[in-house]
Amino acid sequence: MEETLSIIKPDGVNKKLIGTILKKFEDNGFEIINIKRLTLTNEQAGEFYSIHKERPFFKELVSFMTSGPCVPFVIKGENAILRVREIMGATDPSEAAEGTIRADYADSIDKNIIHGSDSKESAEIEIPFFFG
Ligand code: CMP
Repeated sequence: MEETLSIIKPDGVNKKLIGTILKKFEDNGFEIINIKRLTLTNEQAGEFYSIHKERPFFKELVSFMTSGPCVPFVIKGENAILRVREIMGATDPSEAAEGTIRADYADSIDKNIIHGSDSKESAEIEIPFFFG
C-alpha cells in the first residue's frame, strides 16, 4: 500500500472535472483518504514547486497554480505512486496515452489538469505540505 499526493489544478477545477477525476481513481480501486480545496498563494506555490525554481517555466507555473482554486487530495492503494502517474498520462498531453486524464482533458504542458507525486520521496514531502 502506498499513498501519493495529487492536485486537480486550476484548469481542472475550472473545467468542472473534480468529480470525473476522483471517480476515475475510485473506479481504478483507489481510496481518496484526504481532500481539500484552496487557492495557493505565490509563496506556497513557489515552495511546492521549489524543485523547478531554476527552470524557464517556473514563473508561469507559479502564476498558473495561483490563478484559481485547486484541489489537493491523497490517494491510497497498491503501487499508488506509479499507477496514479499512469492514469494521469505524460506531463505533456500531446504525448499522453489514450484514455489518460491528460490525453482526454489537458490543453498543454502548462495547463495539464493534474499533478501527481513522482516518487516515494516526493509523496512524503508533498502529502504533509497540504495535510500536515
Ligand atoms: P507537474 O506534474 O505539476 O510538475 C511541474 C509542472 O510544470 C508540470 O506538471 C507542467 O505542468 C509544468 N511544465 C511546464 N513546462 C514544463 C516542462 N518543459 N517540463 C516539465 N514540466 C513543465
